[in-house]
Order: sequence, then C-alpha cells, then structure tokens
Amino acid sequence: MRKTVIAGNWKMNMTPADTKAFFEEISPLISGRKSCGVVFCVPFVDIPAAIKGAKGTGAKIGAQNVHFKENGAYTGEISAKMLVECGVEYVIIGHSERRQYFGETDETVNLRTRAALAAGLKVILCLGEQLDARQKGITNEIVSMQTKLDLEGVTEEELKNVIIAYEPVWAIGTGLTATPEQADETCGVIRATVASLYGKKAARDLTIQYGGSMNEKNAAELLAKENVDGGLIGGASLKPAAFAAIVAAANKKA
Ligand code: 13P
Repeated sequence: MRKTVIAGNWKMNMTPADTKAFFEEISPLISGRKSCGVVFCVPFVDIPAAIKGAKGTGAKIGAQNVHFKENGAYTGEISAKMLVECGVEYVIIGHSERRQYFGETDETVNLRTRAALAAGLKVILCLGEQLDARQKGITNEIVSMQTKLDLEGVTEEELKNVIIAYEPVWAIGTGLTATPEQADETCGVIRATVASLYGKKAARDLTIQYGGSMNEKNAAELLAKENVDGGLIGGASLKPAAFAAIVAAANKKA
C-alpha cells in the first residue's frame, strides 16, 4: 500500500550555514521511529550540508529542479547525474513557480521527469490549477491533462519512483488552503487519471501529496483524507517546530 510522505520545499531560502543550524534544531524532533517518509528539497548549494545534517534522522534529501540533458552547454543548469553523485535521492519537477517564472511547460516537465527517473532519482512531480480554472469549474480537466502530459513515456516500473504533488496555484504561499474535501477530490481525479494510464494497482500504490499553505494547524485534517498521502510544504518547512508537527500528524496516518 502507498506510503505517506512529507516533503519540505525550501524554495530559495537558507544558506549552507542556515542549513547546518536548521538540522541541529530539527533532528531531535524528527528522529526515532517514523512511519511516514520525510524529504527536504533544498537549494543546490545546501545539498552537502543537508545530507550531513539529516544523517541518522531517516530523512532524505532532494533538489528543486534538474535539467534533462546529461551534460553540455546549458549554463546554470544541473544534471541528474550530478545530483545522484552528490547523494541526492529526490527532485521536485514542475513546481508552479518554475512554470510561472521560468517558462517551464508540460513538455519540459516531462523531459526532466524522464531524465531524472532514468538516472535513478525519485521525482516529486508538481501540478495544479490556477485560480481562474478553479472558478470556471475546469480543475478536473486541467489536472487530468497535466497528469497525462507530464507522465508521457514514463513506464509503469518508473512510476514507482514518482510522487505527484497536487498544488493548487492559488493556495501556494497565499495562506489560502484547499478544503480537505477539495484536496481529496482533486487528488482523487489525479489517481483516476493514473488508473486510466497504468491500471488500478499502480494508481492505488501512488503517493499523492497536497501542497499549498499546509501547516501544523491544518495538516491533520488534510492528511485524514483518503486520497491525500502526504504534503509538500513551503513556508512551514522552514520552521523546525512546525515541520516536525506536520511529520507527527502524518505518522498518525501512516
Ligand atoms: P506554501 O506551503 O508556502 O504555500 O508552499 C507550497 C509549495 O509551493 C510547496 O511546494
């Protein structure tokens, strides 16, 4: 059965020194027996400090982007092989901030996803609707289309290394959270789409996270929903006590 996974997305926050201090504070709060998976997706330059800091906690380290070419003249980009060699296990792909500010499309999200999986990384694939789509009542169509386009060419075997993060764009960093019912329904649409592509078992085993202003106060009720298998946490992942409380809520579900 699928795993509950709580992942922090630090975005462009924290220096290596901040990272060291962060793990000193959070390690005792998240160590010990955990039933849920815990991942910290940190800026590239923080990766060594995060790997060192997370040792012994059971938490895994992820990056926030990866290029789809193996190497070459792509100034400023990082390849999957580089991440793997640094000890990175996860990578976020297709975050709405990348789609919005850096020209990421479903096509490039798909290319990055396939390259990351081929290199042995686990992918946290982000998708979700904009506010106007939610208001027009076309959320289901949008997330279903994104799921199909972003996973094109991904094999059933590779899908075992994919987590989908449903992040309604209007809920990211806004303090607005999808209601548990909205999160459950839309994660359910994503799961049904995956079932149509890969079959019922693959869909049942897929971890689907909710992301968008999840915090220590609302995590338990969101995670209580059947189709919500964890969270991708932005702002609250920068606060050790808040993030540890979300992990504790997830452990009750897992
Ligand atoms: P917030 O939790 O800050 O809303 O960010 C969510 C997010 O974008 C995680 O990837």
